[in-house]
Amino acid sequence: LQIEKGDFQWSAPSNIALVKYWGKKDNQIPANPSISFTLNNCKTITKMGFVKRVNDGNFSFDLLFEGRPKEDFKPKIHKFFERIFDYCPYLKDFHFTIETENTFPHSSGIASSASGMAALAMNVMSIEKALNPSISEDYFYQKASLLARLGSGSACRSIKGEVVVWGHHAEISGSSDLFGVTFPTTIHANFKNYQDTILLVDKGEKQVSSTVGHDLMHNHPFAEQRFAQAHDNLSKIKAILETGDVENFIKIVESEALTLHAMMMTSMPYFILMKPNTLEIINAIWKFRNESNIPVCFTLDAGANVHVLYPQDVKEKVLQFIKNELVGYCQNGQYICDEIGMGALSF
Ligand code: PMV
Repeated sequence: LQIEKGDFQWSAPSNIALVKYWGKKDNQIPANPSISFTLNNCKTITKMGFVKRVNDGNFSFDLLFEGRPKEDFKPKIHKFFERIFDYCPYLKDFHFTIETENTFPHSSGIASSASGMAALAMNVMSIEKALNPSISEDYFYQKASLLARLGSGSACRSIKGEVVVWGHHAEISGSSDLFGVTFPTTIHANFKNYQDTILLVDKGEKQVSSTVGHDLMHNHPFAEQRFAQAHDNLSKIKAILETGDVENFIKIVESEALTLHAMMMTSMPYFILMKPNTLEIINAIWKFRNESNIPVCFTLDAGANVHVLYPQDVKEKVLQFIKNELVGYCQNGQYICDEIGMGALSF
């Protein structure tokens, strides 16, 4: 099929890992399997225009972020295209105009790489589908996840909802190191519409890029134990999600968050990405949980912000607690209310 020009537009959400991906092998293969909640409100919206260019094998693109040219994002996107050319050689025949924006504030400390790479991968697959309309929906989404993984590992978990596993695990049928798969069995009603309120503790640039962080798991003294633990925690959380065991969910999720940070603290060089207010928030959550018996817990990404996770039916009480006791620990009092979502959407 010959296509001269056109455009597509996709949104893709961020995701929050319950069992963390930290450490990788060549070609963005994870050292251990991970599982995440797909989010709903924190997302990237990307429009990709394409025009056929003279067939000189040189591909090119322009990039607009929030309507303005953005030179410093270009190298990452260039690298993404270079990595996916083997899978999508047709891209070399086009010039692209990529217009992108996030629904969450820029430099909020919320990584936009997962949502951004997922939105880009969806647009690429729309072009592939236009060139080859016979591809199936399963192939479309699976390959989108594979391409997103090549942009940023965790991005492969942002294509679909509501709970996604990435990395081969014996107990998760269909799981693969190459792409994310929707959690194959039914999730218990206790986890339906699970809430994630993201407390913005420190909006500064990350001290350690995740690329450097993953690399530090090579020769890390606790790496093998950690990878084995992630497999074990994934087995446990699988059963927890199926049976609705919120109490044990909390134990695994908080332990995973602290283990991720423990890996950073025990690498060489070592890092502390939590801030004093991160610890204040964790302690306040523990106190509130003990006193109220409300099943609220925290998780962390590779940064100081705190994700507060809780069931939908306690939303009002938890938001009241956040407003009364946690907002003071947030930079400029900022937090974002999010919840489990369904994945990428075209429009
Ligand atoms: O996708 P990356 O390479 O930016 O790695 C992200 C890793 C964590 O966010 C810290 C954990 C995870 O599984 O999302």
